[in-house]
Amino acid sequence: MRLTSTEKDISKVAKKYCRLVVSEDPASNHRLVEAADGTLSYKMGVGKYKDVTPRKFRLLVRSIVRAAKAHQVEYLAVQLSNSLFPQLQEYGERWVLRTIAENLLLANYEFTKYKTKKTGKQAKELKEICFCNGLNKEAKRGFVEGQVVAAAANTTRDIANTSGADMSPRQLAAAAKKTLKATSVKIKVHNEAELKKLKANLLLAVGQGTKEPTQLITMSYMGGKKAERPLVLVGKGITYDTGGLNVKPSGAMHDMHLDMSGGAAVIGAMQAIAKLKLKKNVIGIVAAAENAVSAEAMRAGDIFTAMNGKTVEVLHTDAEGRLALADALTYSERFNPKMIIDVATLTGASLVALGQQAHAIMTPDEELQRLLIDLGEESGDYTWPLPVWEEYQKPLKSTRADLANIATNFSRFGGTIEGGAFLQNFAPKNVPWAHIDMAPRMEATAEDKLAKGATGEPVRLLVTLAEAL
Ligand code: BES
Ligand code: MN
Ligand code: ZN
Repeated sequence: MRLTSTEKDISKVAKKYCRLVVSEDPASNHRLVEAADGTLSYKMGVGKYKDVTPRKFRLLVRSIVRAAKAHQVEYLAVQLSNSLFPQLQEYGERWVLRTIAENLLLANYEFTKYKTKKTGKQAKELKEICFCNGLNKEAKRGFVEGQVVAAAANTTRDIANTSGADMSPRQLAAAAKKTLKATSVKIKVHNEAELKKLKANLLLAVGQGTKEPTQLITMSYMGGKKAERPLVLVGKGITYDTGGLNVKPSGAMHDMHLDMSGGAAVIGAMQAIAKLKLKKNVIGIVAAAENAVSAEAMRAGDIFTAMNGKTVEVLHTDAEGRLALADALTYSERFNPKMIIDVATLTGASLVALGQQAHAIMTPDEELQRLLIDLGEESGDYTWPLPVWEEYQKPLKSTRADLANIATNFSRFGGTIEGGAFLQNFAPKNVPWAHIDMAPRMEATAEDKLAKGATGEPVRLLVTLAEAL
């Protein structure tokens, strides 16, 4: 589907366009109407305009695509007056058009890689949505930005939705290269021999149960001044998570091809940041490994020395994400970062805590916590904090090593914080750091009005963060 714009008023566009007419009237909800001259209109009641919040607005925009597809509309003309929704005014025209473009394209996404009959072949396909009545300079800017960000988020979804069999750590590195091909982003991939030299023993331990070699992917975008310290984004790239020897029960494993969603989001964010030509320096790091079951796999009780020198007892082989990320966080220090954000599908417990509404964020930096909540609202990738107080460290002290990867009393309480507290031991000191447990937003819900599977979050959040710094 293409997004276009025209100076023409909606009443003047070519006859092939179906015109979207919004109103407050719930009775006109979702109806296709044919006029005497044969032009089609789609009437959409959206409720009281004054009640349309940014959160509701995103869903409203997504439902336009759903409606057009349901009615087999091929060409849709839209004229959404900016002044219609008073609650959006403070965000400005650039934000409004960016949000529209983003959510139209996110809603249009389908994952068809493994379908033999591509949808849309027989049925009519939505080909174009055209914005009427001209866009001013600010609006145009938002309109273009939104398309760049949504394309990146949809690429993230393609990568994440791919089966573990077709997305090994090496294939993830190849996907990063492909995604960033037409940009100025430089990519370095460390193989296992290099990782051994780097002493990334925790990351290597996670991947030691499979022949698929572990990879550390580093992407650098230098859009800012040379001396400027970069924002570093670190993503969990577990290409399949069986749980290891502490194997997952059936019912909990089938969607674990999505366990590289954090890494895929970092790759997508790098693409958007580069395509938007942000005048910032941003480094993306993806710790890529497969957590497999085999005689070579790490055992519960094994002890490894992390890149930062701390020894870690693996009490549970299914708490592998924090091991992989620990070394990636240590590695991030060499870039002299001004801020570090890690993104990971780290714990099922985060779904217990927050449901599927928000990314869990953990940071000792209150200013950064506030910023991530605010940017969540602005971008649509909502975030909500959990504490990482000192008190949460004690249960992670191992009897035989410095640290254990889960609480030594095997308590199931506060599982998400436990993950964040573990990672805190590896985040470089004196650098603002936040951990995003994105497991709640790994998969779309019916209320999201998105295709089932990967959401492509939190690409929008990471891009707005890079813009805001
Ligand atoms: N990848 C999982 C977390 C996960 C589970 C994400 C469900 C999305 C949906 C992670 O590696 C894991 O297995 N975590 C364990 C931690 C436990 C062993 C302390 C979990 O959540 O059970
Ligand atoms: Mn796991
Ligand atoms: Zn995992």
